[in-house]
Amino acid sequence: MIDTEKTGRRLRFEIFRFNPEDPDSEPHTQVFELDEVPYMSLYLALNQIREQQDPGLQFDFACRSAVCGSCGMLVNGRPTLACRTLTSDLPETVRLYPLPVFKLIGDLSVDTGTWFREMAERTEAWIHERLPFDPNAREERMSNELAQVIYEGDRCIECGCCVAACGVANIEADFLAATGLNRVARFMLDPRDRRDDGDWFEVVSTEHGVFGCIGMMACADVCPKKLPLLDVYAYLRRRLLGAALLKQTAE
Ligand code: SF4
Ligand code: FES
Repeated sequence: MIDTEKTGRRLRFEIFRFNPEDPDSEPHTQVFELDEVPYMSLYLALNQIREQQDPGLQFDFACRSAVCGSCGMLVNGRPTLACRTLTSDLPETVRLYPLPVFKLIGDLSVDTGTWFREMAERTEAWIHERLPFDPNAREERMSNELAQVIYEGDRCIECGCCVAACGVANIEADFLAATGLNRVARFMLDPRDRRDDGDWFEVVSTEHGVFGCIGMMACADVCPKKLPLLDVYAYLRRRLLGAALLKQTAE
């Protein structure tokens, strides 16, 4: 049953509005107000604003349970998922802006899909098998412990919060950011992927890869899935420094 009781707080939402497709549209903030109800999430608040005050308000949601990654936005300056944010954890004035770095679709809606597809293409985020296809090949086994570590990396929901929070990604369009490097680490760890450290060195050893990070750690701070992103950086740096040393010795 929907709880219609009110908490007594009147919430004020200052929401970024802009339609890049409309030449008459100017970026501005618009104020909406509503009465808070218990257990109200930002998803519910935005839906109510759209249903009762402005049907043209753009924002993205699909799962409403921190699974699809589509509802990332800046909530009082912090990138986070709107569907898992309770208004009771926020002050009465809530400022909502779209995630930076990604292409703006309109208001709070951004195109994370293009960024993630380009990242996946650049890092060739798929298993690279060098042997010819064998229809009779048996499934390759790996230890439960390794499978669990790989699964940790696969929990990324591509919400883009870590990218939006990253100072380097905000000024350097080609930086792979924590989510991209997490993806690389996932395939590096996978014994079915035949790429060696030399191959990986070419992919992620530039200033757009793991050595572009300046260690502000905002990515780990905002990741809604609590992925071990700092461990990922440490792992990649260790492996790639090893590869670099081997390369130098061979030259
Ligand atoms: Fe979102 Fe975390 Fe994945 Fe970054 S690493 S895209 S913050 S789930
Ligand atoms: Fe799917 Fe928020 S709506 S993660």
